[in-house]
Amino acid sequence: MGDEQPWWRDAVGYEVYIRSFADSNGDGIGDLRGLLNRLDHLAWLGVDICWITPFYPSPQADFGYDVADYCDVDPVYGTLDDFDAVVARAHELGLRIVVDQVPNHSSDQHPWFRQARSSPDDPRRDWYLWRDPAPDGGPPNNWVSHFGGPAWSLDEASGQYYCHLFLPEQPDLNWRNPEVRDAFDDIFRFWLDRGVDGFRIDTAHLMMKHPDLPSNPQLAPVDASASHIEQWLSLDHRFDSVQPENHEIYRRWNAITSAYESMLIGETYVFDADQWNDLLGPEHELDLGFWFLSMWMPWDADAVRRVLEGPRPPGRSRAGWVLSSHDQHRPATRFGGGESGRRRALALSTLWLGLPGVPFLYQGEELALEDGIVPTEAKADPVGFADDPTSGRDGCRTPMPWEPGVAQGFSTTVDCWLPPGHTDADTVAAQRADEGSFLHRYRQLLAVRRGLTGLAEADMVIDQDGSVITVQRDDVAFVVNMGPDPVPCRGAILYRTDPDGSADVIAADEAMIIRMSSRFGSPAGRSSRRG
Ligand code: NOJ
Ligand code: CA
Repeated sequence: MGDEQPWWRDAVGYEVYIRSFADSNGDGIGDLRGLLNRLDHLAWLGVDICWITPFYPSPQADFGYDVADYCDVDPVYGTLDDFDAVVARAHELGLRIVVDQVPNHSSDQHPWFRQARSSPDDPRRDWYLWRDPAPDGGPPNNWVSHFGGPAWSLDEASGQYYCHLFLPEQPDLNWRNPEVRDAFDDIFRFWLDRGVDGFRIDTAHLMMKHPDLPSNPQLAPVDASASHIEQWLSLDHRFDSVQPENHEIYRRWNAITSAYESMLIGETYVFDADQWNDLLGPEHELDLGFWFLSMWMPWDADAVRRVLEGPRPPGRSRAGWVLSSHDQHRPATRFGGGESGRRRALALSTLWLGLPGVPFLYQGEELALEDGIVPTEAKADPVGFADDPTSGRDGCRTPMPWEPGVAQGFSTTVDCWLPPGHTDADTVAAQRADEGSFLHRYRQLLAVRRGLTGLAEADMVIDQDGSVITVQRDDVAFVVNMGPDPVPCRGAILYRTDPDGSADVIAADEAMIIRMSSRFGSPAGRSSRRG
């Protein structure tokens, strides 16, 4: 690629949670043909990358993140021909396709694991992590699953435990085994040869474990009744996460993908900024890494500044910035819900789209959706408390609302895998018909961003003045007012989240993109504090 910027440097991504995006055959489950029929929406909206969550053959214990064959399509989602059609149409529309790669674990139904499990002497045994029980017969160490409970399950037949950092149906692969590495090289090439433009690497920080699998230092007692994330955070993940040898693997993959000018974006899910910056590493490893502290940030200016300060140069132009995904409550809900929650979500998106790196929207974020409503009896996620409708990840995964009518245009049946959880007014069609809708405001935001050519080269200065956060890049400022009172603003307004707002002030929960001129000084507020 020489000195040229890679194609993703200025790009904006969009996550398609395939199961909930669009259903083409009326079985109530989204699929690749459904996506194909709706790809025009992404082009109209103005994003550049379409990341599709796993559509591979899978028992769906974790809705596709338990892969039983890495080189095919699950019949529920379509066929390889359907996938090829998606790639071809996306490329016609100028969109890039990123697929999910799930290297940390397979399904327990993958032939690799079935063989491994068949006998301790099977040649595939060492493709996974097996250990004898501790002297008391319990698990070999104190590791916990991200989804609660121990990270080890006993295989009764052999009397050994196998490791799973997620569900027991998701056994962890042994990345110290060279055959596992070779197998994944082939999987990368399989999809590259079908024309994909990149890979989102699931749990990219977890593949390598300490070779001795020691117990992690305990920070607090593990409370089995606490939420899965609290249980996870009771340990210092020194031995099951972010091992330095992961970097060898990233370099190996990058040697393969860069030959195709394809991109690697890691799900680098660590909250510690130093750890995140190390994990991203130098170039020619992961091209980009998601920075997820934002998913846990309240509507609070100090918290937002801390999140912005996490990724540091030179790595911060390689950050993937998100407010939303299929794993977390939607931002409009997290920021208080209702009209105010929705305005806040758009306001922070305005800031996020100004950051150096690659921002990603999650399907429905452009509609400023709140979480869908999922009654306890309809819950599907294996994670979260069964008796609490708001716990777990179902609320952010309800079907995408396309148009008024049956299942809001997601399917021809109302009997969908998760209940259609939105209103007719939320739909794409209703919002497209209303020039003042959130959808139009997101689209305009993306258009303004695209017009800011040259910004990709500019680093950012973060500035906090009380409740006002400003990100400045060259002469362009992205400003959000997180306080209750309006603040004065100066400069030429290129975009504002509230099109009817009064001139010269940024209202509460509003954001702007402002072109500064030197005579205006700081774009908003009175004093300033450099971050
Ligand atoms: C992260 C994915 O985003 C999540 O949905 C999944 O459950 C875990 N990784 C395990 O693969
Ligand atoms: Ca379907």
